[in-house]
Amino acid sequence: MKIVLQSPLDMHLHLRENTMLQTVAPYTCRTFAGAVIMPNLVSPVDSLEKLRRYKDEIMKAGKSDTFAAYMTLFFRKYTREELAQAKKEIIGIKLYPAGITTRSESGVSNFDEIDETLSLMEEMEIPLLVHGESNGFVLDRETEFLSMYQRLAEAFPKLHIVMEHITTAAAVDFIDRYPNVSATVTLHHLLITLDDVIGGLLDPDLFCKPIAKRPEDRLRLREAVFSGHGRIMFGSDSAPHPRHKKECCGCAAGIFSAPVALPMLAELFEEAGRLDLLQHFTSDIACRRYGIQPPQKTVTLEKKSWTVPELCGTVKPFGAGRQLRWSVTETV
Ligand code: NCD
Ligand code: ZN
Repeated sequence: MKIVLQSPLDMHLHLRENTMLQTVAPYTCRTFAGAVIMPNLVSPVDSLEKLRRYKDEIMKAGKSDTFAAYMTLFFRKYTREELAQAKKEIIGIKLYPAGITTRSESGVSNFDEIDETLSLMEEMEIPLLVHGESNGFVLDRETEFLSMYQRLAEAFPKLHIVMEHITTAAAVDFIDRYPNVSATVTLHHLLITLDDVIGGLLDPDLFCKPIAKRPEDRLRLREAVFSGHGRIMFGSDSAPHPRHKKECCGCAAGIFSAPVALPMLAELFEEAGRLDLLQHFTSDIACRRYGIQPPQKTVTLEKKSWTVPELCGTVKPFGAGRQLRWSVTETV
């Protein structure tokens, strides 16, 4: 049995820099035709100069001529000139509330000061990608942030807003109310709930932001995805941290799912009886919503089992040690 995907895309990806970039980039660049690259580096990607340098490094590390790095700038106040220059080289601008997740310290601390830039982005048709969490109680952060999403969606009705890595039923309901809003959902949020993280023995490898939520939230995400929702697309949020930064006190947030993304999605969609929607979820929605034409890459998955390695370099991948039913057998 085979599945053939045309130009699968990962619409939310962390690749890091230096040795880590060298380790992780090939996993994505081999099996995906493109990915949206997050800008939360040690020194955030907030200028065209940094962005160009970073893109070069990614393309060298990824070693694939059928991979597009869709770059994002880290949100700050940008002038019209800066945005006009950047427009052709970016897919969007990523907004982080200050301090909400890994390397977001220089994110937005005053949401009253962002409208000028957003208005320019709306006019210039530059999408806004958002890590939508408040700094409230951890399980309520995404839901509390919905009022901000509402303000933005109503104040800037032509701005394409992408709610990144949604985890709640409330977020799914919200999207349906605003045609200018899309979302990404991760593999892990379709698979796990908070119980998998802290309900038994604490599992730092499943600790990520936003934290996995309740069974009913996972169910609503699955219902949306498996009904072929037209605005909820795949973004892995694969976020590698070396093992010693995960298995320690003060564990870093992030799940490294790039090596298993497509095989595990195939398993999940097969179990739901919706393999027919995998192409839609991993490519078509993103192409339509962002108006992109990724490089042509035909990716074949076959029913051949393999065991997820315990480590990829210094990083423990999602599902380490598990046997998976589907393998990527060919990419052309
Ligand atoms: C991400 C990271 O490590 O960069 N971590 C995570 O838990 N998802 C940042 C992010 O997307 O929040
Ligand atoms: Zn992320």
